[in-house]
Amino acid sequence: MAKRTIVSLPGDGIGRVVLEETIRVLDAAGFDAEYVEGDIGWEFWRKEGNPLPDRTIDLLEKHKIALFGAITSKPKDAAAGELDPSLKDKGLVYSSPIVGLRQHFNLDICMRPCHSYKGNPLNFIRRGKGDEIEEPEVDVVIFRQNTEGLYGGVEWSNPPEKVYDALMTHPKFVKNFGKTPKEEISVSTRIFTKNATERILRAAFEHAKKYGYKSVTVCEKPNVIRETSGMMYKMAQEIQKSDYPGIELWNTNIDAQMMWLTKNPENYGVIVAGNMFGDIVSDGFAGLIGGLGFACSAQFNPDSGIGVFEPTHGSAPKYADYPVSIVNPIAMIESACMMLDFIDENEIAAKIRKAVAEVIAEGKVRTYDMMKMSGRPDVIEKGAASTTQMADAVIAKL
Ligand code: NAI
Ligand code: MG
Repeated sequence: MAKRTIVSLPGDGIGRVVLEETIRVLDAAGFDAEYVEGDIGWEFWRKEGNPLPDRTIDLLEKHKIALFGAITSKPKDAAAGELDPSLKDKGLVYSSPIVGLRQHFNLDICMRPCHSYKGNPLNFIRRGKGDEIEEPEVDVVIFRQNTEGLYGGVEWSNPPEKVYDALMTHPKFVKNFGKTPKEEISVSTRIFTKNATERILRAAFEHAKKYGYKSVTVCEKPNVIRETSGMMYKMAQEIQKSDYPGIELWNTNIDAQMMWLTKNPENYGVIVAGNMFGDIVSDGFAGLIGGLGFACSAQFNPDSGIGVFEPTHGSAPKYADYPVSIVNPIAMIESACMMLDFIDENEIAAKIRKAVAEVIAEGKVRTYDMMKMSGRPDVIEKGAASTTQMADAVIAKL
């Protein structure tokens, strides 16, 4: 097969180290690829006033697949204050380059698997019936709609006249907000479209079918948010009935799901939700399998074949300048495995996952988070593995 070209987007902070260690693992596993680095993140905001330069968009357009580390985002005023003096007062406004990538390429499917590894000391445990300690196996995959809903960006403070007038046509707005002065109102919309809702639902059902999960759970709030959550659940019922009768459709409310996910996490398989609730429920499940050092994700558009694979964690700036990096590279390595699955390199993905599982099960090499230490430079002296040592351990198993 022709050698692949992968766009590497290290971004900021610890993004670079986890990405570089992951590429070493990919090489060792025999993945034949070359990597071209794309510029993204804070440095390019400061120097060029754009954290997502057009040349980076072009690179992804050309090569389609990217591994992404993490970026640093700061509030509006702080961002403006750090701009190169020549760019100040030009009205530039910072916006997240990862959100920019999602929107530009319509990466509307976000997938976040949460699988527990045997022997991970961070795994969730609970008390069983006879007071014994149980460690349920978690194997959940969250499908989060990635472009619409509450993160769609359609919002106002002191909404324009036309918007306000439109809101005043709704009896509930008149009743609940009609007496509040317009200037005191902020509105963030939650817009779902049928097209995008159908796409995320079908992606979830398809995954359940392909990998043998017995259920798909819609995790929303249709009893209260009737139009958007209600539409998603209704469409899920139709799709299940017509195309996936062998897969059970469950319906949970996001609030109850967050309460119950520690009770019986082993019962859930595929979960599907809108943008905000998908973000929340995926963090909830990630907490059961070891947290940010283990939480991986993929965002892609099945039509164009463009995909960006990244750990859920951010740039962890406080660890970025340690002389020896202490952060856990497993979330990034797992994200690379999702990339391999996406481009049908399933065997290499399986090989890497097996190696990671062996390292964790053996328990000899553990990063500071796995040793329940708080992150400080001296964790290495105290026996924690560095980022590089963890990658080395995985490579040794390969
Ligand atoms: P963060 O995820 O960067 O770090 C939070 C804490 O989680 C760290 O202090 C560390 O204790 C732990 N942690 C993170 N990654 C870890 C790893 N690989 N191994 C072990 N421990 C790890 O989130 P925070 O501190 O809220 O944000 C820092 C910056 O990252 C901000 O500028 C934020 O905007 C950005 N961010 C970027 C994201 C992205 O690139 N997609 C996602 C989340 C935050
Ligand atoms: Mg992320």
